[in-house]
Amino acid sequence: MNKTLLLLLLSVSLFAQKSFKIASPTDQISIQVSQGADRALKYQVFYKAKEVIAPSDLGLTLKKPALELRKFQILGVDSTIVDGTWKPVWGEVKEIRNNYKELTLHLKESGVWMDVIFRVFDDGIGFRYFFPSQDNFKHFIVDNEWSSFTMTGDHNAFWIPGDYDTNEYTYQRTKISEIDALAAAAKEKDIAVTSLMGKNFVQTPLMLKSADGLYVNVHEAALVNYPAMHLKLEGLEFTSALVPDAVGNKAYAQTPFNTPWRTVVVSNKAEQILASKLILNLNEPSKIKDSTWIKPQKFMGMWWEMHVGKANWPLAGGKHGANTENVKRYIDFAGKHGFDGVLVEGWNTGWEDWFGNWKEEVFDFVTPYADYQIDTLTKYAASKGLKLIMHHETSSSVTNYERRMDAAYQFMVDKGINTMKTGYVGKIIPRGEHHDSQWMVNHYTRVAEKAANYHLMVDSHESVHPTGLHRTYPNWMAAEAARGSEFNNAPTLGINAEHTTILPFTRLMGGPMDYTPGLFHMNLNQFDSTRTTKVRSTLAKQLALYVTIYSPLQMAADLPENYEPKLDAFQFIKDVAVDWDDTKIITAEPGEFVTIARKAKNKDTWFIGSITNATARNMSFDLDFLDPDKTYEALLYRDADDADFEKNPEAYVVEKRLVTAKSKMTFRLQRGGGCAISLRRLN
Ligand code: NOJ
Ligand code: CA
Repeated sequence: MNKTLLLLLLSVSLFAQKSFKIASPTDQISIQVSQGADRALKYQVFYKAKEVIAPSDLGLTLKKPALELRKFQILGVDSTIVDGTWKPVWGEVKEIRNNYKELTLHLKESGVWMDVIFRVFDDGIGFRYFFPSQDNFKHFIVDNEWSSFTMTGDHNAFWIPGDYDTNEYTYQRTKISEIDALAAAAKEKDIAVTSLMGKNFVQTPLMLKSADGLYVNVHEAALVNYPAMHLKLEGLEFTSALVPDAVGNKAYAQTPFNTPWRTVVVSNKAEQILASKLILNLNEPSKIKDSTWIKPQKFMGMWWEMHVGKANWPLAGGKHGANTENVKRYIDFAGKHGFDGVLVEGWNTGWEDWFGNWKEEVFDFVTPYADYQIDTLTKYAASKGLKLIMHHETSSSVTNYERRMDAAYQFMVDKGINTMKTGYVGKIIPRGEHHDSQWMVNHYTRVAEKAANYHLMVDSHESVHPTGLHRTYPNWMAAEAARGSEFNNAPTLGINAEHTTILPFTRLMGGPMDYTPGLFHMNLNQFDSTRTTKVRSTLAKQLALYVTIYSPLQMAADLPENYEPKLDAFQFIKDVAVDWDDTKIITAEPGEFVTIARKAKNKDTWFIGSITNATARNMSFDLDFLDPDKTYEALLYRDADDADFEKNPEAYVVEKRLVTAKSKMTFRLQRGGGCAISLRRLN
């Protein structure tokens, strides 16, 4: 890392206004921090000469000691430039450049010393508050944070309602002035637990697009030991709204203390927003020294059987899915097709009364149902070259889970299982805490840390929005933490055709998502004729999602009997990689379309995913990222000419073409459709 001191512009105007400016390494982005006569600090963000964030607030109110930290004495200013590269344990690219200029304002107010630290990258900014160790200020309780993001116009916004307990909402597309979280949430009937914050509250990552074509993404990075940040809207100003704990406090802190980073990613190209590594760069390097045991994986499981009513989680009721014979069937199919794991949900006692009663004792995470022979299955899985994947549904009785984590993780080690899916359906215990409050944020990182001690990988569902912590804890590989594919079976709203074109610009900004794509049977009345739910996607789009929704853990979510008749299409799921050397965002527009190409780790094989919303479109792009001297066999898994997500979703064509770096790739995406392509080097 190269650290040099930079010269800063410090101007003192007639009105005693101080301002500090710093620009990103290539001057693309700059910030200005100003102090008015009232001693309040405001920051602005510019993209080239254009203002992106109008003067916006900084500061905190503390509850104990009761202090307003919103007006400051500026004691000094420092700056540095950092330029380095690092290699993620797994990821979308093999190497990441971390290049920014940093501006630190050393501040004092009411006897408290604190810093505001800004990092200015060529694709956006991050800032955080830091409280150094000091003699007269050690412990404090945060009441409110005033960080705000004031937009310069009534932009188009892609948002979900602010909620302390769930991020599983359908995305809304409105002008900022039209945001009404309560009206949007009123349409949702299928989310287990909601705690809405009010009409004018939204969650991050918040995606915005200005009338003159600037893309702006607001989120946070390195959410550790602090509640999640949601946003309160007043006029064009979004202000941090921290999730409270059971007694209404926001955060308990002890110096030295850092808040998470507040991030703004900016570009005039939507593709650059998806290519940004700013949030990862603001996270700490991996805490796991030996990461050789951490492996990206593809897996199957009888999960969808239970969601569509073929089977069920509890033993009682006669439809128990996790019985030895059924799990063997999955192991056979997954083993034959080269998968790494089989997820087993409903394997353990407790499902007869697991949800809805806010009950403390639910699962013990170590007692299998009588018809589930775990040792036999572990051995059987090993004989087929794969591992079972553990399921820990906590039912949000998190105190219960915390008491049992060591025993549960040791049980996994004893059974030769190295990956678990956790879940937090229901109201949190400790009662009064929320999925997004500080106590739970600390719980998720405790799980990642403890799991790492046992060499276990984690995929969390119903957890807080990810903030790039997969850099620090590469064993916390994926999270759902948004409306995942399970909502295809939600009767009220389901999953609309644009949802997966918005996810990369919102939820995925924080990290990989276990969306569970790969549904091949779109009418969900297969086992229960009363159901009217449908997967509102073409089959080819389901394949393309393996590329457009980044995750090092990818499930093939459908049933073997639904894959069996379409093995030519299933071939793409078998072939697609889950770890990458390189990623090219070819074209993207939130809510409309996304096309991404990725190069498999250590192989000259590329995979392309292209998806659209409810509008059919022709796609055409250069393949100039391919090796210039080689010929590639392209297998296109595309929508049939008469495919349509509503009328004919399962119609697809597998087509072979020979291409080079000089070729243009062309195909048509039908309504709600997609195209998945594998490119294999021939010479
Ligand atoms: C919700 C999860 O997202 C889903 O994948 C799981 O099957 C159920 N909870 C039951 O744990
Ligand atoms: Ca879920």
